[in-house]
Amino acid sequence: MDINGISKFTFGAPFNTNAVQGGISASSGMPPHIRMGADARSFKCSLCKDDKVYGMGEAVRGINKRGWIYETYCSDDPMHTETKRSLYGAHPFVIVDGEEVFGLFVDYPDRVVFDIGYTKVNEMSVTIGAPDFDIYVIEGETPLEVVRRFRSLIGKSYIAPFWAFGFQQSRWSYNTSADVRNVIDGYRKNDLPLDAVYLDIDYMESFKDFTVSEERFPDFPEFVNEAKSRNIHLVPIIDAGVKIEEGYDVYEQGRDNGFFCKDKDGRDFVAAVWPGKVCFPDFLNEKAAEWFGMKYKRLTDAGIDGFWNDMNEPAIFYSEGCLERAIDKVASYKGRNVGIYDFFALKDAVLGLANSSEDYSSMYHNVNGKAVCHNTVHNLYGFNMTKSASDAFAKIAPDKNILMFSRASYIGMHRCSGIWMGDNQSWWSHIKLNLQMLPSLNMCGFLYTGADMVGFGDNCTEELALRWLALGIFNPLMRNHSALGTRDQEFYRFENREAFRSLLKLRYALIPYLYSEYINAAETDDMMFKPLAFEYRGDKFAEAVEDQLLVGGSIMIAPVCEPNAIGRSVYIPEKMLAVFFKSENSFRTKIYDKGHHFVEIPNDEVVVFIRGGKALPLVNSAACTAELDFSTLRFIANGAEGAIFTLCREAGVQNGRSVIEKQTLAVFGDEAETSFEVV
Ligand code: GLC
Repeated sequence: MDINGISKFTFGAPFNTNAVQGGISASSGMPPHIRMGADARSFKCSLCKDDKVYGMGEAVRGINKRGWIYETYCSDDPMHTETKRSLYGAHPFVIVDGEEVFGLFVDYPDRVVFDIGYTKVNEMSVTIGAPDFDIYVIEGETPLEVVRRFRSLIGKSYIAPFWAFGFQQSRWSYNTSADVRNVIDGYRKNDLPLDAVYLDIDYMESFKDFTVSEERFPDFPEFVNEAKSRNIHLVPIIDAGVKIEEGYDVYEQGRDNGFFCKDKDGRDFVAAVWPGKVCFPDFLNEKAAEWFGMKYKRLTDAGIDGFWNDMNEPAIFYSEGCLERAIDKVASYKGRNVGIYDFFALKDAVLGLANSSEDYSSMYHNVNGKAVCHNTVHNLYGFNMTKSASDAFAKIAPDKNILMFSRASYIGMHRCSGIWMGDNQSWWSHIKLNLQMLPSLNMCGFLYTGADMVGFGDNCTEELALRWLALGIFNPLMRNHSALGTRDQEFYRFENREAFRSLLKLRYALIPYLYSEYINAAETDDMMFKPLAFEYRGDKFAEAVEDQLLVGGSIMIAPVCEPNAIGRSVYIPEKMLAVFFKSENSFRTKIYDKGHHFVEIPNDEVVVFIRGGKALPLVNSAACTAELDFSTLRFIANGAEGAIFTLCREAGVQNGRSVIEKQTLAVFGDEAETSFEVV
């Protein structure tokens, strides 16, 4: 039974996912509120009218997940519309918050369907792909206590390097080193802070992993150095698929050592992604994972100290077999009278080629000598790709904390990297989705995260960019990324450059606060972003708020997520001091009493609400994190009685991890005049 309020129940013979750290022995007899189905692979829980259900990590819809069906299945799907069931990450963890408060983690590496009051309004039913899984039931007085216990079960969160709290610019189509240099110039010349520029697939030679195009990025180590001398980190992408090409050593080594996933006949499984035909490294085979992980050394040797792992659901555009069948199907319509239903079938034959379950069922892993069908362990692929890199970093560069985040993920991957929220769109609704995913991901231990700010697909507007920036400045991973062919959205491209400059500088002024609260959350298994419902228990208005968040211990944010707005309604759950920042040094304040208020927020301002007895630290902004001067630290406090703040700083790196230095500061005074001393 029970370790710290956690009970484990084992059904069948589960696959070891490595989600959980440390052993916990299985109990028998599920708690009475969880009713197992006769099929031995489903269970149900009754929900009372006002119960809330949180969790699901990376998923669409609100913070309260009630009223929809979600499926944990890592999916390459850029259209994050509200009727989708799965996104890139698979996080089968929920918390029921009602008369009983409890968490449920279904540890199963393939599809788990969570019907949370969709089919039956007052019932949550969970169906697992096969009768081999573990369920962890986590008791707690409050949802936050459940989160903390769950996080203690799955292990401590990854800590990103300090520089990765700086602003980062990305775009798919920085084709040459000159393009990248122009972006750096664009930021530096316009006095817009910047710490990193991303290299998307464009930097590679024919989209081959661990290669750099000599023609477009000549003398790469020298170029990396040049960027570094301007305090810019270059962060290359690594894709899961390895291009099939004779003479390409990564392909040849993988093929010769049997390190690729196989088809049912034991031949290398072949599919197409960006490079054309590829093979997928078998990350569930320890030797293959170790081999691939060590390949990152080629880029770390060139001075690279950050990566993003992509297309690792794994995404498949088409496989040879499925493509041939689709072509045959299309050909079979030639000369026929194509009716409307034929037309739809024709369309589906082509559109259904990508990420088909037929392909995932034809792909096999070698797990300790045993062939395991990919479709039974699908959600572990991205996790193990990222783990292979993170394990290698400890050997390759123990003197550096290398930035790593991934697109696909499963529970447990939070120990070795962050994630980004995948290919979103330049839509207003995706600002809100960015906000709502932050706490849900924190529940699962993913603290270093953020969305493609300003939107990946579709064209943005200047107003959307400013409003998204007002939320983006609080995301640990603050990256502006966009797709090939969309409108340019680097911040120096917009007319009102002054406003972008002020808000970007405000981010840098807030970094000591954000970094400290991030470290605190990582070390104590806390959430950096909390729904109001987690803190203001029993306040029915706070419990219903879906578009405001508590960020760390001191502040609440309420970003504007609508076009042409002059402000928004904000629920103030306790007396708070609102600080309207026009810039880091120019702000006005206003006290709000508990209750509903309409708050005017011009689109070149950010409002932060400081909680009673709390203080918000700021430093002078700088062009990059390396130039932040902590001696300029100051506070804005709400309440004269004094607040305590623990300041965390990265003091160095040991064994690939940041060494954190802490100072406890006592803050005195109020918003007009504040002083502090070290205690
Ligand atoms: C995928 C990634 C996206 C990247 C693109 C090209 O869609 O999610 O971030 O820009 O591939 O590599």
